[in-house]
Amino acid sequence: MTASLDAFASALPKAELHLHIEGTLEPELLFELASRNKVKLRFKSVSEIRAAYAFDGLQSFLDIYYEGAGVLRTERDFHDLAWAYFQRVAPMNVKHSEIFFDPQTHTSRCVPYEAVISGLTQACRRAEKELGISSKLILCFLRHLDEESALKTLAEALPFDGIAGVGLDSSELDRPPSLFTNVFAKARAAGLRCVAHAGEEGPPSYITEALDLLKVERIDHGVRCLEDPELVKRLAAEQTALTVCPLSNHKLRVFDTLEDHNLKHLLAAGVLASVHSDDPAYFGGYVDANYRDTARALGLTRAELVTLARNSFLSSWLGGAEKTRHLAAIDRLVAS
Ligand code: HPA
Ligand code: ZN
Repeated sequence: MTASLDAFASALPKAELHLHIEGTLEPELLFELASRNKVKLRFKSVSEIRAAYAFDGLQSFLDIYYEGAGVLRTERDFHDLAWAYFQRVAPMNVKHSEIFFDPQTHTSRCVPYEAVISGLTQACRRAEKELGISSKLILCFLRHLDEESALKTLAEALPFDGIAGVGLDSSELDRPPSLFTNVFAKARAAGLRCVAHAGEEGPPSYITEALDLLKVERIDHGVRCLEDPELVKRLAAEQTALTVCPLSNHKLRVFDTLEDHNLKHLLAAGVLASVHSDDPAYFGGYVDANYRDTARALGLTRAELVTLARNSFLSSWLGGAEKTRHLAAIDRLVAS
C-alpha cells in the first residue's frame, strides 16, 4: 500500500454506522471522569489500562468495557464523551455518524436516561454546528439481559426525542435475536428503525433471525454469513447492509489475523458491506485506521476503498438529497 493510497483512504468522505459511544472512552478521559466523579479505579495509569486491553473474545472485552463505562455519571460526562469522539473523527473526513449507546449500562447504576440522552444530543447538535458532522443516535438493548428489561428501557426512552432507531448488542452466544421479537415490534410500531448485531460470534442463523423476526434494515458485523452461501445470496440480492469492523474482529479473535478477514469476499459476493470502528478506544484504531490497516492487510484497491465509502452513505439513514451530496463529493475526489 503506497502512502498515496493511505492519504486517499483518509481523504474519502465517510459515514460511520457502527460505533458504540461508550467504546470511544479513551483511558485519559476515563481517568478525568473518574476523578471528576470520585470513582475509584483498579487501574493506576493509562499504560496499565492499555495493557489490560488484550482480549480473547467478545466477553473478555465486554467485561472491561462495562467497567470503564462506570465513570460516566452526568449529562456533562455524556456530552464530553461524544464531543471528544466528534472532534477526533472530523479530520478523518467522517461526515455522518450513526451512534450506538447502551442506556441499560447506565440506568442500572441509577444514572437517569434523561442525563444520557440529553448529554449525547447536545454533543450531536454541537458537532453539526461546529464541525459539519451530521449524526443520529441508536439505542441498543443489551442482549445478555432479558426482554423485560429491554421493554422497560424502550418505555423509558419513548417520551424523549433524540433516537432514530434501536439496536441489539452485547454477548451474542446463546442470546439469539428471537428472544427480542416483542421489543423490536414495539420499537417499529413507535416509528423507530431497527438494526442488530448478528453473526459476529454467533452463527449465520442469528442473521436470518434478525432479518425475519426483528425485521432489521442492517446487520452489525454479519461476517459469519459467509458460512451459509444461500444467506450470502440473499444479503446480496436484498442489498442488506453489513457494518463490518475489521480491527474489532481481529482484536476479539473473530479472525486470527487481519489478513484472514473476509471483507474482500463479502464485496466480491456483491454484499453491501462498509467499514466502521465499533469500539475504537479499545481496539486500537478509529475509522481511518480501519480503512488503512484493512487495505494494507487485504491489498484493497482504490476502487474497493471507494466502494466501501460509497456503501457507508448508501447504508446510512440520511435522506436521498444528503446521500447524493456525499456521493458526489466522493466522485469529485476520485476525479481529482
Ligand atoms: N459486539 C457486541 N456488543 C458490543 C460490541 C460488539 O462488538 N461492542 C460494544 N458492545
Ligand atoms: Zn458493535
